[in-house]
Amino acid sequence: MRTPIVAGNWKMNKTVEEARELVSELLPLVKDMQAVTTVLCPPAPALLPIAAMLEGTDVELGAQNMHWEANGAYTGELAPAMVKEFGKYVILGHSERRAYFGETDESVNKKILAAQANGLIPIVCVGESLEENKASQTAEIVSGQIKAGLAGVSADLVIAYEPIWAIGTGLAATGEMANDTIKVIRAVLAELFGEEKAQEIRILYGGSVKGSNAAEFFSQSDIDGALVGGAALQADGFAAIAAAAQNEV
Ligand code: 13P
Repeated sequence: MRTPIVAGNWKMNKTVEEARELVSELLPLVKDMQAVTTVLCPPAPALLPIAAMLEGTDVELGAQNMHWEANGAYTGELAPAMVKEFGKYVILGHSERRAYFGETDESVNKKILAAQANGLIPIVCVGESLEENKASQTAEIVSGQIKAGLAGVSADLVIAYEPIWAIGTGLAATGEMANDTIKVIRAVLAELFGEEKAQEIRILYGGSVKGSNAAEFFSQSDIDGALVGGAALQADGFAAIAAAAQNEV
């Protein structure tokens, strides 16, 4: 069985002080949820202080992005080893990075390879735009992103299917729609890694997940958790989603 993951992508929100406050409210709410892996992905400055707070708990830490090179003249970037000092996970290829910072399947591929070489577990994001969705190109787009992004990588990763039109809009996909696309993703993973490995890889849904709709996703056959944006900025919002995952196990 695949242990569900509920990961919070805080995006560019929370100063260190605010991050500390959120985590101290959150820890008592999620500490007994043994059946679900919870992961917090704060902005880079909060990685160190939050790592200290999570020590001795089951809550994991991740970064939101990193560079593929080990070090060097890359102003503003984080190297894999810098993420690894504090975190276990790294979100890669988020649609906001693709849209605003020029990331491509090729750069995402380099980052996944670098993350895995450094013992980090990448959470690789894929998803279609509204236009692509309306043109019934969802399966083709996400399959292409998976094949190009995952060239030559190992199966030690997590995938997040995040339809761009559902991110931050309050318009979540339905559980059934998300599950259909995630089944397509799993079939592509089976082509890349074999059926057995494909059955082990966690595939999350992301896009306007909240406490009130989380169970609809987690009750589906192939959805193994959620990558949460807005609702992860409040302790009770994130905890409600983690509780929904815990209840489905
Ligand atoms: P929202 O949950 O705010 O829609 O964001 C989803 C997301 O982009 C997580 O990476």
